[in-house]
Amino acid sequence: MKKLEIITRPEKLDIVKRILAKNEYSGMTVTAAMGCGHQKGVLKEFEQLNLDINLLPKIQIMTVVMDEDAEDIIQELQQQLSTGAVGDGKIFVSDVMDVIRIRTGERGEKTL
Ligand SMILES: Nc1ncnc2c1ncn2[C@@H]1O[C@H](COP(=O)(O)OP(=O)(O)OP(=O)(O)O)[C@@H](O)[C@H]1O
Ligand SMILES: [Mg+2]
Repeated sequence: MKKLEIITRPEKLDIVKRILAKNEYSGMTVTAAMGCGHQKGVLKEFEQLNLDINLLPKIQIMTVVMDEDAEDIIQELQQQLSTGAVGDGKIFVSDVMDVIRIRTGERGEKTL
């Protein structure tokens, strides 16, 4: 299993939900986030003012998917979330050792 942590623009949440639903995943955790990347959060229009605005609003969507589905989902997310402008975000991918459905004690892929 792979954990995808998708950090992107808040207005892109619906696109992420649609891509996950299309791939038959409904489980996700969505968090309002503040962050910065390469540009250290400086907005183009404020650049000359040199204001210390260094965190911009983002959303973080955490979802765990099966290994065999991860690459297709990642490709689709990258293509549909890219505007070509800085600040589009990132997808962090990591291995998940196990998942436990608390209600039943089931473990692994069948819980997703
Ligand atoms: N190395 C990182 N670790 C953790 N979170 C990060 C990292 N880089 C970016 N983020 C998160 O992703 C958000 C969007 O980052 P952003 O798209 O600006 O990355 P970037 O590397 O600057 O790419 P770009 O040049 O396209 O803007 C940030 O606001 C932050 O929340
Ligand atoms: Mg950036």
